[in-house]
Amino acid sequence: SPISSPDLTKCTKGTNLNTNKPLDVNCCPPLSTQIIDYKLPPVEKFRVRPAAQTAGEEYYAKFEKAIELMKALPADDPRSFMQQANVHCAYCNLTYEQAGDNSKKLQIHNCWLFFPWHRWYLYFYERILGKLIDDPTFGLPFWNWDHPDGMPMPERFARSESPLYDARRNLDHLPPALLDLNYSPNAPTKPKKIVSNNLTVMYTEMIRNVKKLDDFYGAKYVTGSDPNPGPGTVERGSHTAAHVWTGEATATGEDMGNFYSTGREPLFFAHHANVDRLWTLWRGLRGSKPKEYTEAEWLNTDFLFYDENAQLVRVTVKDTLENEKMGYVYEEKDLPWLKRRP
Ligand code: C2O
Repeated sequence: SPISSPDLTKCTKGTNLNTNKPLDVNCCPPLSTQIIDYKLPPVEKFRVRPAAQTAGEEYYAKFEKAIELMKALPADDPRSFMQQANVHCAYCNLTYEQAGDNSKKLQIHNCWLFFPWHRWYLYFYERILGKLIDDPTFGLPFWNWDHPDGMPMPERFARSESPLYDARRNLDHLPPALLDLNYSPNAPTKPKKIVSNNLTVMYTEMIRNVKKLDDFYGAKYVTGSDPNPGPGTVERGSHTAAHVWTGEATATGEDMGNFYSTGREPLFFAHHANVDRLWTLWRGLRGSKPKEYTEAEWLNTDFLFYDENAQLVRVTVKDTLENEKMGYVYEEKDLPWLKRRP
């Protein structure tokens, strides 16, 4: 049967997955006595998610204000900056048991829940920010790292006085360094080759290596499955490279390079907006081939999140299939990797 929402009262201290030691932070969410089955609200006007490298001053002023207000919420408000960061930790660092099999821990990475779960995470994060600045059209920026113009860390996130800044990063990777989509700390790509190599990585992950649905989405993961049955191409490759490249060059990689702390990095949400955009683009490239699973074991998976009104809601995978129905779209950018057959 599909994975269903965890029992929040049974949340425990998780595991630091970079060291396999118990975490020294508690990332369990506040409790609520009421859970509402979430219905996608009717879409009046799309939120447009802009490319981070070209979004203007006016946009960033709003975005920074919203993040500041989020950081100023009381610590126990489920919409606060740290509580939102902890949502990632709770669903990833083995704090929950599976609702239908308490011998197994819940982990939404490295499996077919990766795209839908993160889509919901960003969806509520974006709505919380929009509500804080009273702008129902606010959209998160995306880090357009699949395009040469977007490969450096977006400049605004690198200004130390900005609320988008995070000091726990690899400071050698501030702009103008280019994100290396094949990054490995011991064998980084030569700077001159990064752009061309990145475009080849994108072609490979989006077209060449994705014949079956699992190739893109990741392996099946249902009640009783062990964590980490296997990631899809983007999750394994460019997505993880960006996490490791951005985080500190230490064994624990805070913030971006460690599951428990990555949600404390404002750039995480711009990174995952691009991952989410790649899901949308990939569906568009499929033509008449299947774009998603039809199995109830995937579609009926559900999760819990706090929404912009601090209400605990239950959401399903089947409601994530089309971002337009969720009320947001992406600014269009060229896709120079489309013709990069290696
Ligand atoms: Cu939930 Cu990019 O990790």
